[in-house]
Amino acid sequence: MRQFKDSVAVITGAGAGLGKALAMAAARRGMRLVLADIEAGVLNQTVNGLRSEGADAVGIVIDVSDASAVDQLAQAAMDRFGQVHLLFNNAGVTAGGLVWENTEKDWDWLLGVNLKGVINGIRSFTPRMVASAAADPAYEGCIVNTASMAGLLTAPGMGIYSVSKHAVVALSECLRHDLQLVTPQLRAAVLCPSYVSTEIGHSDRNRPAHLLDTAPLTKSQLAARAAAQQAVKNGAISADEVAEITFKAVADDRFYVFPSPEALPLVKARIDHVLNQTNPDLPYDLVPALKQRRDRILSALAQ
Ligand SMILES: NC(=O)c1ccc[n+]([C@@H]2O[C@H](COP(=O)([O-])OP(=O)(O)OC[C@H]3O[C@@H](n4cnc5c(N)ncnc54)[C@H](O)[C@@H]3O)[C@@H](O)[C@H]2O)c1
Repeated sequence: MRQFKDSVAVITGAGAGLGKALAMAAARRGMRLVLADIEAGVLNQTVNGLRSEGADAVGIVIDVSDASAVDQLAQAAMDRFGQVHLLFNNAGVTAGGLVWENTEKDWDWLLGVNLKGVINGIRSFTPRMVASAAADPAYEGCIVNTASMAGLLTAPGMGIYSVSKHAVVALSECLRHDLQLVTPQLRAAVLCPSYVSTEIGHSDRNRPAHLLDTAPLTKSQLAARAAAQQAVKNGAISADEVAEITFKAVADDRFYVFPSPEALPLVKARIDHVLNQTNPDLPYDLVPALKQRRDRILSALAQ
């Protein structure tokens, strides 16, 4: 996709973190914006900030796990701007801990936002974007799903998040395959960041009341949360840098977007285990964040 100016971007999870940075990067390119988030306060701040700098932006409060709400978002974007060119299925949340300790509500929440949110975006927007492509030979579009390096790697105490993000990587690859059967004018990409300093370590702030558990977090869940918060806080790359890398990838039609390519040897090590049929393992001594995560959980379990 080469033409950003005056094109239309829809971004979920746009009130904070990566979504907000993507919105600012889109506005810098002169795009018109439909921004969605479950949290009205931060969404309004983002929209008002962008408008004050001259952007044509609208904010819509939705929960991406709600299929009908995402469909209304798609219709609202079409009603306002007539076309959508760039869709970022970006909203996401995190939780962790020993995988058998995650409750049914944990799974419903995590998979509802991280996976079903992306599914809902694809189901609602793709037919409308394909129709725009069919109606206009000059139309170009792209759907970018935010996964994670956790979509290509597994580690202790992050099973629930990793499962959701592996599904997003698979879904994104399948979306690209299927789009290639239908039109060359609409592409797909998957964004796989490593740790970025955002608010994701405090995802619980937007957990709906009906998906809250009454039981306190387990030792492993507390330790995994503390490890994630520290790793995110120490993230070596900023959300703005990730957004710029992502826009460059969209312009170059690169499917896999890896803002922290230094993590890729871990993916290779994992695939080597698959190909060599050796048991999964991680080179902890080479990766401080993973070592710290494992050690924190081990020490919490020992108490
Ligand atoms: N920060 C990282 O280190 C990191 C690394 C890899 C992947 N990611 C992914 O990046 C994406 C963005 O996360 P972030 O780090 O910017 O976190 P963040 O918490 O800073 O921002 C996420 C935004 O999504 C919104 N949101 C949460 N639940 C929602 C829902 N049900 N419907 C609509 N909006 C909802 C939040 O209100 C928030 O504004 C997520 O998919 C996350 O998994 C983040």
